[in-house]
Amino acid sequence: MFIEILVYCLLAGIALLAAFQLGRKSCTRPAGDVAKNSRVGGSRVRSSKDPSLECELVVLENHCLRDALQYFRRNAESRPAFDRLLSLYKVERRFPDLSHFRLGPNMFDSINLDWIIFINPTTGELVGHGITTRFAWDQDIASLPGGWQGVVRASYIHSHVDQRQPNTLVGLFIFVEDQFRQQGWANNVIEEMRALAKRNAIQALIIPLRPPLRYKKEYAAMPMAEFAALMRDDGLPLDHWIRLHTRLGARILCASEKSHQHAMPVQDFHVQFSQIPLSESGDMLVERNGEWYKIHVDLEHDIVLINQGCVWVRHAL
Ligand SMILES: CC(C)(COP(=O)(O)OP(=O)(O)OC[C@H]1O[C@@H](n2cnc3c(N)ncnc32)[C@H](O)[C@@H]1OP(=O)(O)O)[C@@H](O)C(=O)NCCC(=O)NCCS
Repeated sequence: MFIEILVYCLLAGIALLAAFQLGRKSCTRPAGDVAKNSRVGGSRVRSSKDPSLECELVVLENHCLRDALQYFRRNAESRPAFDRLLSLYKVERRFPDLSHFRLGPNMFDSINLDWIIFINPTTGELVGHGITTRFAWDQDIASLPGGWQGVVRASYIHSHVDQRQPNTLVGLFIFVEDQFRQQGWANNVIEEMRALAKRNAIQALIIPLRPPLRYKKEYAAMPMAEFAALMRDDGLPLDHWIRLHTRLGARILCASEKSHQHAMPVQDFHVQFSQIPLSESGDMLVERNGEWYKIHVDLEHDIVLINQGCVWVRHAL
């Protein structure tokens, strides 16, 4: 009897250890509450008040989505900003939702992310935030991933499959809250991405830009490279998002037609995207929530492909 209990305890211990190791592999652990420059495992939380910006800055380094949500939950009571982030990222999506049709594999939930969060110190509300991930890149434009999906996949492969040391930081998302837009906050998020890269001895900061003006009807069918080259009379890029990055010193690396991709059967297209009848195969423009998209329809194979494309830029470090 004693031996049996001993064997049972041993087996339970091994199982616990295996589960712990699996957990470690899928996602690094975060630090708990807001702490100044605390570090746990590969993840780090930095919190500071920036007097020049009159803002609180919280940076969660190497926190996968699950860990970041845990952090937001823990701190939601102290600052509404974290509650807002929870509402943005802990979304209960009714199935099927457009996000389910992102052309896969979509490993976003599993990769390590860095979260740059600006908070109003008086009200505790969210001002803006940005998300980055890291991957290993040989600095050759020809070997850049196609776009957003491609780089998320590369980040996953290099951290979970190949175990390669990342040397490149990629901006995946920047969002400034409505009431703080057009006040230069996007600059601050980008500057903080550069600071994050420098702190981690990263060689490059690159971003697959999704230019907002491209979704106007007159530009939606234009090849991305042609669109990226459109200039205003003053010689600056026509699109305000590309303009902001180039004004900050970023260099356009290349344009890609293969970023932010969705693929779905025709019936789902009508539910998720547009009710416009699809009577023949080929490329066409459709409108969704005031934005225009070029789609490819293949009726024979019952597929609609939405390929938004991106403009890759590289910021100097
Ligand atoms: C894109 C975004 C991050 C810009 O943030 P922001 O803090 O308002 O940007 P800035 O204040 O630095 O403005 C930069 C330039 O864009 C212009 N701009 C900003 N929003 C604009 C809009 N809706 N329409 C036209 N121009 C706009 C500004 O006037 C400024 O132009 P300038 O170069 O002539 O000075 C913000 O609008 C946003 O969060 N949008 C939703 C999410 C998104 O699309 N993110 C980008 C892709 S990941």
